[in-house]
Amino acid sequence: MGRLAENRGSPGNDAVSTEFDSSVLASHAARLAGVRLVGLFEQEPTRFARFSRRLGPLLVDVSKQAIDGDAWQALLQHAASCAVPLRRDALFAGEPVNASEQRPALHMALRAARDDEGTPAWCEARDQAQACLERMAALVDAVRKAPGVIGLPKITDVVSVGIGGSDFGPRLACAALAGQGGSGPAVHFLANVDGGRLDELMRRLDPEHTLVVLVSKSFGTQETLLNGGVLYEWLCRALGSEQAHRRLFAVTANAEAARAAFALDDARILPMWDFVGGRYSLWSAVGFPVALALGMDGFRRLLAGARQVDRHFREAPLEENLPVWLALVSWWNRAWLGRASHCIVPYDDRLEGLPGYLQQLEMESNGKRVRSDGEPVALPTVPVVWGSVGSNAQHAYFQALHQGTDVVPVDFIGVVKPDHALDENHRALLANLLAQSAALMRGRDEAATWATLAGVADPALRRSLAAQKAFPGNRPSTTILLDRLDPESLGALLALYEHKTFVHATLCGINPFDQWGVELGKSLASRIEPGLRGETAVVPDASTAGLLAHIRALRKA
Ligand code: F6P
Repeated sequence: MGRLAENRGSPGNDAVSTEFDSSVLASHAARLAGVRLVGLFEQEPTRFARFSRRLGPLLVDVSKQAIDGDAWQALLQHAASCAVPLRRDALFAGEPVNASEQRPALHMALRAARDDEGTPAWCEARDQAQACLERMAALVDAVRKAPGVIGLPKITDVVSVGIGGSDFGPRLACAALAGQGGSGPAVHFLANVDGGRLDELMRRLDPEHTLVVLVSKSFGTQETLLNGGVLYEWLCRALGSEQAHRRLFAVTANAEAARAAFALDDARILPMWDFVGGRYSLWSAVGFPVALALGMDGFRRLLAGARQVDRHFREAPLEENLPVWLALVSWWNRAWLGRASHCIVPYDDRLEGLPGYLQQLEMESNGKRVRSDGEPVALPTVPVVWGSVGSNAQHAYFQALHQGTDVVPVDFIGVVKPDHALDENHRALLANLLAQSAALMRGRDEAATWATLAGVADPALRRSLAAQKAFPGNRPSTTILLDRLDPESLGALLALYEHKTFVHATLCGINPFDQWGVELGKSLASRIEPGLRGETAVVPDASTAGLLAHIRALRKA
């Protein structure tokens, strides 16, 4: 590996290019390829203390990653040479870090306190967010405590209609914090344009007692507008248009489109802004359904948890900065050790939505092949992010994690104190989490396996069994423990990954805040759809033409 051109200076398209001697990291990667993680622990008994830190309600442990003191120093130096602190400051200052769209990314201002000072751009964003929170609070209180004030009967159900960043975060937060919001309405999420779920919801819910919240930053997303239209018609049919309008809310940066499509009145439109990307928007009015479920106090606690991590990210030196730690580990695994995927395994059913949320956060942000100056990247950027809840995952794909040909770094996420009294269950859950990360690292070599097979008389069979039953081990993982799963810890966890994603992008020299790659498929879908109605459509290739003909023939039959 030669020299890497890296972006330095302030983020955005004014980045200047400089040279970074990549041979240092290449030599550490080559050296560590031959080193066993258990050996690193033997050499340095204080390794856990060195590579783990507490941050508010979180404990982050990267000691089971393939790093040692020298490699870590080199990685930290690289972070400094990529101007991570400068870029972070530019992010908080509201500079146009989203260079391709010339926009800032000020999601941190959404969770700022009233008196958190900053640049004029920051203060303006903070004030807009505060004003929005006040409006949200009034609506949330009305819906939960005095619906008559806004012309509604008791609301038992809310349907949140949105997709991607307008869905993953609120869906995750509602599931993770279910039961912690007192007597709020049940919130249902509708993202996919697949009519099955919508049909089921309309059969099950009582329109009289249901609110519909349309969440779309652009208010141009096909799935959301189509689903929203069907629900609006459903309300109108059951209650008439005036009552339907009382039950319809929108969260959008395009109020004009919301007014035009649904004749919504301004009191029922909550704002979004261009300075917040969809996948970073949970903290805005996109979280309105969460606030309805949890109550405004609970929602503010979520913001407070995230703010705690913002402060840490902003103030901690690189060597103590946990988003920087996680980003360096990801970059190290992907760019230098060739680990093409990254598995997220939360050991808590309430966090079932976390892998999907992080998949969008990291892959939509950092799934880029050119840098923000338009030049191709020199090294791989984002890994494939995937995963599911443990211990179920152990009975699905952990076999491949232990003995497969690919090494897949895992993030284990656990909750120390449960919200139930079934302690034996919780001990079993945590024991599984700890056991898996230990087993992935330790493995069991052929010699040890051989010894367990003393009863096998045939040496050839014994050798073959020993080979099949041995675990290579040396498979890296990070563990993040939450004290308990509450609004603060969830807010902190998600903000930690948000900033990790930003730093990872900075190490790669890419812009994490745009998503041009999603647009092509979106626009093609709308041009192909007339073909399903039997009208002339854009048919991009012969395969699509064949598939369209097949579908049309079956639909006619
Ligand atoms: O999934 C692609 C995407 O563009 C995301 O970035 C965004 O969160 C989602 O669509 C929904 O967009 P909108 O909030 O504008 O409906």
